[in-house]
Amino acid sequence: MNLSELARRHNRDWADRGLHRTPGTFASAQHPVACIDGRDYVLFSSSNYLSLSAHPQVIHAASHATARFGAGSGGSRLTTGTTELHRAAESALATFLGAEDCVLFATGYQANLSTIATLAATSGDLCIFSDSLNHASIIDGCRIARTDLQVFPHGDYHSLGRMLAGRSSRDALVISDGLFSMDGDIADLPALQQVCKEHGAWLMIDDAHAIGTLGSSGKGSSELHSCQLPEILVGTASKALGTEGGFVACSHEIAALLRDRARSYVFSTSTSAAAPAAVLAALPLVPEQLPKLRRNIQLLTQRLGLPATSSPIIPIRIGEETAALAAAAELKAAGLWVPAIRFPTVARGAAILRVTVMADHTAEHIEMLAHQLSSS
Ligand SMILES: Cc1ncc(COP(=O)(O)O)c(C=O)c1O
Repeated sequence: MNLSELARRHNRDWADRGLHRTPGTFASAQHPVACIDGRDYVLFSSSNYLSLSAHPQVIHAASHATARFGAGSGGSRLTTGTTELHRAAESALATFLGAEDCVLFATGYQANLSTIATLAATSGDLCIFSDSLNHASIIDGCRIARTDLQVFPHGDYHSLGRMLAGRSSRDALVISDGLFSMDGDIADLPALQQVCKEHGAWLMIDDAHAIGTLGSSGKGSSELHSCQLPEILVGTASKALGTEGGFVACSHEIAALLRDRARSYVFSTSTSAAAPAAVLAALPLVPEQLPKLRRNIQLLTQRLGLPATSSPIIPIRIGEETAALAAAAELKAAGLWVPAIRFPTVARGAAILRVTVMADHTAEHIEMLAHQLSSS
């Protein structure tokens, strides 16, 4: 069959099931009021939780770095893509998170993918135990790791314990999101650490959404739960830190392993220097932005009668894909940008409106959303 014809059939089928995406086109930064498709909307869908991506100090640092190092890095971290700023950001992130070392990748997706594959190759006899709601980059990392994989029911650490006890592999790696990206729920890190300890398993936590948002100073899951860092802590600067670049906080030895073997570190062009410069400018701003984010989360959850949380991700459960699209369209007509999240990002028939709160939303923005959600 002609390839374009095959694509056309698949596209029509996808659209018939309410799954076709038409992303909005932004003509402004991720401000609380953003210009999308030529109109201003109050933005409730950005992961720019701390409103740092357009913070003047962050923009200044990124522009200055671009002027000094250029718009591109010219190669992977192992060739021309390690500037003084990449090194300084690694060191600042390690200090912020309380880790021995930190390895910067171009994206969080790549950090997950390559770290999982590298650990599997290094062990040679590994079974991975992955939470059923883990992010797609973890799922894909498990696929390319080509090793045994067992998926445990979301947050069910009793089942995980049973699965770990019955494994036939020598090594075990347990992987979980710290703050789940769609449901906004938080993994019970102490319980996970306990089960890993009992069964001699390594633990990898993806704190992409937790770093900058959870814990008294925004250090993420381990600070929230007052417990040790896991062996592998994955994060990304693309969410609360307002820029881009994934990272792995870990011991010096694991960092050295990743720097030599992680394929996306070795074979993909690193970020331009603007990204680590922005990280360096963003980290000291976390303490002043975090209380504003907390206040807004509290305002919205109270107003909607939802349980208190420190998560800036607030899912509004709809169900059917087409109903979620209709709800998002209603909000859009009222000047609110809250896209529907559908399969394959969430399970079929479990579509949500994924509301994300930012530090720079005003009380009026929050009220506008709460009013619209409660009256629809
Ligand atoms: C839980 C989680 N991990 C990893 C990633 C990937 O991070 P990045 O966007 O930096 O590639 C995301 C982003 O969507 C995420 O939600």
